[in-house]
This record gives sequence, structure tokens and C-alpha cells, in this order.
Amino acid sequence: MAIRQLSLTDFRNLKSTALDFDRRYNFISGDNGSGKTSLLEAIFVLCQAQSFRTHQLKQCINHDKSEFLLFGRFQGYKAGLARYRDKLEIRIDGKAIKRRSELVKKAPIKIVNAESFVLVDGAPANRRSFLDWCMFHVEPDYAEFWHQFQHALKQRNHILKSKRDLDLLDYWDRHLLEPSLELNRMRQRYSDRLQATVRDQFTEILNGVPLAIEYLQGWPRDKTLAQSLEDRRDRDIRAGFTGVGIHRDDLELTTQGRKVGEVLSRGQSKRVCLVLLMAVLQLVNNTNSDPVILLIDDLHSELDRDAQELVYRQLIQMDLQLFISNIELAVPSALEAKEFKMFHVEHGIIKPRNFS
Ligand SMILES: Nc1ncnc2c1ncn2[C@@H]1O[C@H](COP(=O)(O)OP(=O)(O)OP(=O)(O)O)[C@@H](O)[C@H]1O
Ligand SMILES: [Mg+2]
Repeated sequence: MAIRQLSLTDFRNLKSTALDFDRRYNFISGDNGSGKTSLLEAIFVLCQAQSFRTHQLKQCINHDKSEFLLFGRFQGYKAGLARYRDKLEIRIDGKAIKRRSELVKKAPIKIVNAESFVLVDGAPANRRSFLDWCMFHVEPDYAEFWHQFQHALKQRNHILKSKRDLDLLDYWDRHLLEPSLELNRMRQRYSDRLQATVRDQFTEILNGVPLAIEYLQGWPRDKTLAQSLEDRRDRDIRAGFTGVGIHRDDLELTTQGRKVGEVLSRGQSKRVCLVLLMAVLQLVNNTNSDPVILLIDDLHSELDRDAQELVYRQLIQMDLQLFISNIELAVPSALEAKEFKMFHVEHGIIKPRNFS
């Protein structure tokens, strides 16, 4: 869902302002420390009620103030978010909502920045949440299964840790199994779809590097999950947590049989990350009639010119609302002929710039 207007008050170093965005292309320029990432962060926070920079939203409150406010007009609804020192309020069309997921569901949003590249060489959790983001936005049942799974795992781990009520383990194993197997099948399916989308649409960016994506379940291949949970039970009791299950899944990324993170150059790994990202955006776009919002923070310092051009040429084929930050006031040549809006940030003051 595209964001058409944003008003912000006391968010990081940004001066209070109201901005109109283009439905497709928005560029943000400004010197180091001017507030470019903060503007992208404000958009992200309004869609997710979470930041990509901090786990504590109150860090986003301007140092001299006690709250920040964000208000946005999206296609089809309005969202407001207020973070006070001790509480958070979220409204959709003026009505307070209780579950964060109600907000998150409305506007799928992704950010590409220097940290995105942990997808290749970071911990498996990065790859799991990457795949799950896509499932959350495409599969209507995903959130419910995820909720059931989390609940059962938490209860099971609580018993394992406290070593009390061990006779309840059978009960929680049964409750853990059903959502786990549903999510396992979903992840398997999305991993295959990801591979197919990369192969069909994005190999050019990989510049001849073959990429294989394989879903690895978090328990031995030759056993069922039920069997694995049973076999490990004594060890789990000793360790105090559940050692097998979908919380141990991974996506294995290989090139000619070797792990991508171990053999590819830094630049090649970045291309792999971007290709994966574009493939999930494509999967979400395929089932959403409204554009996904994509924030790109300083891609220019991360990629060479060729890669940038290829990435932009692909991105304009997709129905995305782009926000691209860059120190220089330059529009990538792939986007030059398009209509766009440009904003320049100086010491927290955001000014729309007109081009004629
Ligand atoms: N809560 C806050 N209140 C006030 N200022 C803050 C707050 N948090 C961060 N800042 C300041 O806001 C300024 C803008 O930071 P931001 O990361 O948005 O800059 P940027 O334009 O993205 O810079 P760069 O080009 O270096 O990435 C920084 O000087 C930072 O110290
Ligand atoms: Mg920045």
C-alpha cells in the first residue's frame, strides 16, 4: 500500500513537517548526518511500529522532547502512531488498535541498507525471518500458525527450564507439532518459489554466478519431527530448551555446491542478497494489487554502477513505491525518464525540490 502523505513531529533530528510522496519514485538527498535515514525510518515505523535501527522505539523521540508523532495517508486508509516515553499508541482510520499485526499487514515494507547483507553470511534467523516476511504477507493462515507455534514452544521451554510438570511435555509436543508441520510445508514451498523466481527473472544481476536455494528443516532429514522431539527429550531436559524444530530451520544458499558466504566476493554476495530481496518482493507483489514499499538507504555506497543500474532496471518493472536515499542529488539513469519526487534534507529540515 503506497504512502501518499506523511506528517512527522519530533522524530529524531527531523523538524516537524508534512510531505507529499510520489506513488512510485521518491529520492532523498542530503549530507552525512542531515536526517536521510531518519526519514526512511519514520516511514518504516509508521508501517511496522518497529524500527530497523533500534529495538526501542523511544530512541526515535527527539532528544529534547518526550514523544514523537507520525501520521500518514496511505492508499485507502490513514495511520497514526504516537510514541510516548512509556507507551505506544497506534490508530488506523482514527481507531486505536491493539495488535501490531493489524498495522503491519496493511503495508508490506522492506528496507535495503548495509545490514541487509547479513542475509548471506549472518545467522539462520536472518534467513528464516526473510522467508517468513513473505509468507506473512501472502498466506492468510501464516500468522495464526505462527502464533500457535510460538505459544507451544514457549510453554515447552518453560517446562524444560523449570524441570517441573514434565508429564505435560507430551501435551505440548502435540500442540507444537501441528503448526510446526504447517509452517514447515509453507517454508518449503516458498523456498522453492524463491528459487524459481530468481531463476526466471533475476539471473542477469547475478552476472553468471549460479545460485541454489535449499530449505533445511531444523531436525534430521531421516526422521519425523515427532520422532526427533521424542528422541531428544532427555537432552532437551538437561539443556533446558527445545533443540529441534522449525526454530532451527535455515535456507542454504550455495553456488556450485559451496556456501555463498564462504566463496563469493563481497560484491557478488551483495548481488545475491539483492536478487533474493527482489524475488520476495515479486512474490508479495504477485498477490497484492497495491505496491510494496521499498526503502533503499545509500545503495550507492554498497554497489558498483553496473549493479546499481541492473537493480534499478529490474525494480522499475515491479509495482513498488521506492524511497531512495543518496548523499548526492542524482537520479539513477534507469529512472531518469520517469516522474518522481525529490527531497533534500539539511540539518533535519526536509525540503521538496522541484525539477523542471
Ligand atoms: N533521538 C534523536 N534526537 C535528535 N537527534 C538524533 C536522534 N537520534 C539521532 N539523531 C541525530 O540525527 C542526525 C541524523 O541522522 P541520520 O542517520 O538520519 O543521518 P543521515 O542523513 O542518514 O546520515 P548518513 O549520510 O551519515 O547516513 C544525526 O546527527 C544523529 O546524531
Ligand atoms: Mg544514513
